[in-house]
Amino acid sequence: MLLTGLSGLEYRGYDSAGVALVDEAVDVYKREGEVSALESALPEGPVPGATGLGHTRWSTHGPPSDANAHPHTDETGQIAVVHNGIIENYQELRDELTARGHVFESETDTEVIPHLIEERLEVGLDHGPAFREAIARLEGSYAIAAVFADSDTVYAARHESPLVIGLGDEGQYLASDVPAFIEYTDQVIYLEDGEFATLTPETVTVSDETGAVVEPVVNEIAWDPEDAGKGSYEHYMKKEIHEQSRAIQDCLRGRVDPETNHILLEELAELDLPATVQLVACGTSYHAARYGARLLREHGIAAQTFLASEYRAETVPVDEETLVIGVTQSGETADTMRALREANGAGAVTLALTNTVGSSAARECDHVCYIRAGPEIGVAATKTFASQQVALALVTGVLAETAEPAFLQGLAELPAQIQTVLENSQAQALADAYVDSDAYFFIGREYTAPVALEGALKMKEITYKHAEGFAAGELKHGPLALVTERTPVFALLTEGSRLEKTLGNVKEVQARGAPVIAVTDAPQTVERYVDHVLEVPSTHPYLTPILANIQLQLASYWLANRLGRSIDKPRNLAKSVTVE
Ligand code: G6P
Repeated sequence: MLLTGLSGLEYRGYDSAGVALVDEAVDVYKREGEVSALESALPEGPVPGATGLGHTRWSTHGPPSDANAHPHTDETGQIAVVHNGIIENYQELRDELTARGHVFESETDTEVIPHLIEERLEVGLDHGPAFREAIARLEGSYAIAAVFADSDTVYAARHESPLVIGLGDEGQYLASDVPAFIEYTDQVIYLEDGEFATLTPETVTVSDETGAVVEPVVNEIAWDPEDAGKGSYEHYMKKEIHEQSRAIQDCLRGRVDPETNHILLEELAELDLPATVQLVACGTSYHAARYGARLLREHGIAAQTFLASEYRAETVPVDEETLVIGVTQSGETADTMRALREANGAGAVTLALTNTVGSSAARECDHVCYIRAGPEIGVAATKTFASQQVALALVTGVLAETAEPAFLQGLAELPAQIQTVLENSQAQALADAYVDSDAYFFIGREYTAPVALEGALKMKEITYKHAEGFAAGELKHGPLALVTERTPVFALLTEGSRLEKTLGNVKEVQARGAPVIAVTDAPQTVERYVDHVLEVPSTHPYLTPILANIQLQLASYWLANRLGRSIDKPRNLAKSVTVE
């Protein structure tokens, strides 16, 4: 059960894994590498005990190694702890503990925790109070769980790292995210910052910082275990690319009134119209945010995009008429969370645009709009990007208090058009032709400029090849120096995003010998100027980027596939980055 659960969470980190199995003693097995490496290190056959902990690690303090893998234990070996997050004062605690004779076996920040608990047990405290007092010493972010020899109770605490409890008939579960236990239960409790939980096989108790028992809200998870599996697809990423039609249908469901041509986002009913909008995000979500900001500006709303890690509320004007939108599929990205907290602190109104119900962003913000993409397991974001774009288009309609009928018509047709792209894409053949290239460039303009950035990000993430995306006009201001016959250029040549001008840039790269792949809704116009065409159906210019991006996702996917890369879990990357 622990191994299956860890496999369901491997997208969060996978450089080492471990389990602690509780019986009369606590037996710890841990290995550098993926969960499969841990599996082969475990004894054959059934193991005793019915309580355990597991962990997959994404290194922050100390490189991946058997010793640095979690769980960590105290010197008696009677306590085992797993932790996500960063203990900021760990060095101070470690020095203090070392001075009192403790010996450490790893380089992690986590290992101080079992030692702190051990000391509290030595002064005579019971497990629960000892755990609490140890946690009280910690500064930083954490989701922590601890077990003790000869006890079937699991103790947990949360501060700025996600932790969710699953309520089952035959046992209770605790994890960073629901896929770990979705096959056993759909009844969940999201722990709040500062809360503690105590799980026994039959009971779950949640308490606050003071120890007072709180009555938790029980949520029902709407997806079934099948949704979280790979089905017949070779990779989650491929499955998720192919789920985009459905994801968009889900995102739109009930949100556009065909009678009145109005966008209805009930979640935003209480939102006052802002004077300005700031969007904060990281990675792929940042590209969606760039798209959203352009759309907002097009509708007369002053909007700016910030990389969350670069955002400082004190350096940009923020007041109660500023809406700060955190675009984050996981709702847990530490950089985005910090930016949202700062914005809240500075008096802005905040909105989380997220895929994850009950996530930290959803709970931090004044308002939340769910993108409803369903679980995304592949580390490289695909369907969540499309759903973020659509959700941002809906938010724009609400804030602008208007929506063009042609745009709403385009939204209604989008799921079927996505299907058309998926069924007819020539991206696989193209990947075969260009698998040996030195680098890949992506150019787009206006609405497709963020897609050029996203196309390049996807390419580097999963192929490990050099790729760069540019606003097409910038090409001649530097990047052109890199263009050769060994650097194919993906050009987004779409109506409504100044196709003629981008064609001019295409000629510039062709003159340097680069092969050009056009992603276009105007094949007749562009085919004579380019080497290959990846076609997308015609739609409203606001929606063309969503279709065009799917062709780029497929191109990256097939290239990575040809190269035999670890597509769902690219090296060095994690899906949800909960450290700054
Ligand atoms: C990580 C992932 C990216 C993702 C980014 C932001 O870096 O590898 O795919 O785009 O985090 O994630 P978020 O959950 O905030 O959208």
